Parts: sequence; structure tokens; C-alpha cells
Amino acid sequence: MEFRKRWTQGRRVRCHSTASVPQFTNSPTMIVMVGLPARGKTYISKKLTRYLNWIGVTTKVFNVGQYRRDATRSYNSFEFFRPDNEEAMKIRKSCAIAALKDVCDYFTRELGQVVVFDATNTTLERREVILGFAEENGYKVFFVESICDDLEIIAQNIKQVKLSSPDYKDCDKEEAVADFLKRIECYKMTYIPLDDNKDRNLSYIKIFNVGSRYLVNRVQDHIQSRIVYYLMNIHVTPRSIYLSRHGESELNLSGRIGGDSGLSPRGAKFASALGTYMRGQCISDLKVWTSHMKRTIQTAEALGVPYEQWKALNEIDAGVCEDMTYEEIQEHYPEEFALRDQDKYRYRYPKGESYEDLVQRLEPVIMELERQENVLVICHQAVMRCLLAYFLNKTAHELPYLKCPLHTVLKLTPVAYGCKVESVFLNVEAVNTHRDKPVNVDVDREPAEALETVPNHI
Ligand SMILES: *[C@@H]1O[C@H](CO)[C@@H](O)[C@H](O)[C@H]1NC(C)=O
Ligand SMILES: *[C@@H]1O[C@H](CO)[C@@H](O)[C@H](O)[C@H]1NC(C)=O
Ligand SMILES: *[C@@H]1O[C@H](CO)[C@@H](O)[C@H](O)[C@H]1NC(C)=O
Ligand SMILES: *[C@@H]1O[C@H](CO)[C@@H](O)[C@H](O)[C@H]1NC(C)=O
Repeated sequence: MEFRKRWTQGRRVRCHSTASVPQFTNSPTMIVMVGLPARGKTYISKKLTRYLNWIGVTTKVFNVGQYRRDATRSYNSFEFFRPDNEEAMKIRKSCAIAALKDVCDYFTRELGQVVVFDATNTTLERREVILGFAEENGYKVFFVESICDDLEIIAQNIKQVKLSSPDYKDCDKEEAVADFLKRIECYKMTYIPLDDNKDRNLSYIKIFNVGSRYLVNRVQDHIQSRIVYYLMNIHVTPRSIYLSRHGESELNLSGRIGGDSGLSPRGAKFASALGTYMRGQCISDLKVWTSHMKRTIQTAEALGVPYEQWKALNEIDAGVCEDMTYEEIQEHYPEEFALRDQDKYRYRYPKGESYEDLVQRLEPVIMELERQENVLVICHQAVMRCLLAYFLNKTAHELPYLKCPLHTVLKLTPVAYGCKVESVFLNVEAVNTHRDKPVNVDVDREPAEALETVPNHI
């Protein structure tokens, strides 16, 4: 199975014996965006890249437009994009070649697994160049074409993202829109969409009018099928996602990790404050999700609305350390404690889970969050860090240290290419459960050094 295959080229053998991440690809893959300007190609490129990195597939976007801007360093009006502007065509071609060279470097030197080539690539000839390059180097190619003839959507896109582009930095809005529309006309002269018949040997997905219809052709492997599934689940309807931990729990009061205790009196107070806050958001179609653990269910009960329980949202399994305080872990398993501090993302508790395992467990939750609109997720510290890392594009390195305090709701609202975050503390005191990385992470450190960053508890 694709899952179990290792890299075939010698230089690509990975050797974490404990890796929980299935090997998604067995040869580097180029995702090539196709479509006229203002069809959401950059949006899709960035979002898909964020998803792939989060699930553990090393991915980078190469934006050919950025190479062009760097090469010309001046405002590029639509004149630049006319097919009969030979000087400009030369520049654009050399930019594409520079980008392709960097793609090579990324695969070989940085061990990248996927690149997303974000360019217009509307002409047959350009696609041939990319296919030739990929074949020469043994890369797989998957095209993503975004087709949109809904003028309303196009105008929205131009206003929301294009006018903030560096190309239009110091110019008049109206003029900029007009220039942009002319630029689109220039591309239209040479644009040839992927052809059902002529391109039937290529692997691609065509997305029509932001996902009202799809056409998928010749999916070659596991990673391509994951990409197709993801692209078919995302949408652009405005909405917010609310992430919150459960109210403070009895065990949290005593500084113990894991377990399945109920809410403390302050935790119960938070649950009712959360109900008041959510009602204030005036959302008629709000979905509420919890884990299977008492503390999230008790928190949701106070809201007085229906909720769904997800086992996948359960807190990280601390294995033999469940129900222990950090002091007890240091006393009984000092080496384990240090190993965890050395690589908190990959460290797996004996008989328990790692953050890396947790991300794999949460992938179906992320997919469903993409499909849904307004959702409140009531979860746990480690789980919330994983979800937040996805939305805020944080690295595996940063993820286990993201701050997700108790009694604080994070409201995430998609904007342009990212997410706006509002952090709302609901004014109910709680213990601090955040432990920063200590300075000394050696296995033979002193207990005091290991416990240096443990938050206060009774
Ligand atoms: C892809 O499209 C961009 C933008 O039109 C162009 O600059 C580039 O040359 C194309 N890529 C290749 C490899 O032809
Ligand atoms: C598709 O591939 C087949 C088999 O390799 C080949 O015979 C055929 O000519 C190709 N078709 C096109 C349109 O390239
Ligand atoms: C996501 O993070 C990576 C580095 O970790 C960065 O290169 C990339 O530009 C970021 N993407 C977005 C959309 O911010
Ligand atoms: C208590 O806080 C820790 C973080 O210190 C967290 O991992 C754990 O899930 C919490 N336990 C309970 C029972 O709430």
C-alpha cells in the first residue's frame, strides 16, 4: 500500500522509528494551479499548503508572480501582460525558469515532498514546459484548475485580495480594478482550459464556480486523493469557528494531567458564562462539539443547546503519566520527562500518544470543520493547540507551546488568506495550566531545573 511505502530514492529514507505519520508520497509532487487571474488560485494554494504541512507533508508554495515582481521591481500595468509584448514575455519566461530551479532545490536540499506552483499557466505551451521539467526529474504533476464565470465572485475577489497586492500599492482603487480587468483580458487571449479529451492523460481537478461542481481526472496516488477530498470540502461562506477548552476541572486544580474529572465550581461558572457569550453572538445555526470526556460535556450542558460528542476530540492520552502531577512525573520518569521537553511534538508518552499522533486523530475533525459553518468546539489543551496550529499556520515546533488558557474563547474568522483571531477571556478566574519549555532539557538535569516552568497549583 502507498501508506507503507518508503521513499524509493536512497537520499529520501526517513528514519524516525516511532513516526506515526503514514508516508503519503513516494515521489515529489508538483501541484500546478491553472486559471485566469482572480479565480482564487493563490487562496487555494496557501490553504492547501497549510493543510498539507499540518498533516505532516512538507509543502511550499512557489508564486511565479512574486518572481516577476522581484525581477521588474516596478509597477506592472496590464501592458506587461499582453502576449505581443516580447520583452515582457522573456522576463516572464526567465522567472518561470528561476522558479522551477528553486523547486528542484526544495525537493533535493530541503526534502520537500510537495510544491504548489501558483502561476497562471493558461497556455498549453506553458503546461508542456512544466510537464517536461517534471518528467525529467521524476516528479508527479497534478493540475488544479479554477474556473469561474460568475462576475459577482470575480469582483469580490479583486476587491478583497488583489487591491492589497504589491502591484497596486500606490494607486487609485477604481483605476486598479479597471487595470486588473484588462490584465484578465490579456490572459484570456491565450487561455486554453484543460481539455477533457486532449488532456485525458493528465491528472487534474477542475473546480467550477468556487465548488458548485468538480471534475476529477486520473488521480494517481494517495496524496492526490487526499488533495481532491480536501478541495471538495472547503468553502468560502463567511463564518466563525469558536475554540474553547472545558471549564476548569477538579484535577486541573490540583495540577494533575489527563484523567476524566468533572468541573470545579469555577469551571461550572465558566460554562454558564460561555452560554451567555455564545447567545450574545446571535448565531442561529451554531453547531457545538465536545469530546467524550466529562469536563467538556458538562461545559456544553450549561449552554442548553444540542451538541455532538466526538471521541477524536478527547485529550491527548498521557499513558502511564495519566492523573500524575508534573512533580510526580519528574519523580517516577525523569528521563521520559526530559525526552518530552526535547521534542514535545514527536514525544509519545509510554502507552499513550504524542502531539503528532493527535494531529492524525484530529484530521477528520478539521475536514468536518472545513465543511461546516459556525461551530463551537469545546475541547482540551493539547487538542486545542493542534486545531489552532492548523488555522494559524503554526509549525510542529511551535504547536505544543501555543497558549490556550482556560476560560478563554478564541474566535477565528477567515479573512483574505488567513484567519483573524479574537481572544475573549470570560472573566472567571482559573488555574494556569501552561508549562513553557525549560532551559535545561538534558536527561541528567536537576529536578529543580525540570520543574522550573511548572505552573502553580495546590
Ligand atoms: C506559468 O504562468 C506564469 C504566469 O503567466 C508564467 O510566468 C510562467 O512562465 C508559466 N510557467 C511556465 C513554466 O511556463
Ligand atoms: C494517452 O496515453 C496513451 C498511452 O500512453 C497514448 O497512446 C495516447 O496517445 C495519449 N493520449 C493523448 C491525448 O496524449
Ligand atoms: C505558513 O508558514 C510558513 C512557515 O512556517 C510560511 O512560509 C508561509 O508563508 C505561511 N503561510 C501563510 C499563508 O501565512
Ligand atoms: C489539566 O491541565 C493539563 C495541562 O496542565 C491538561 O493537559 C489536562 O487535560 C487538564 N486535565 C484536566 C483533568 O482537566
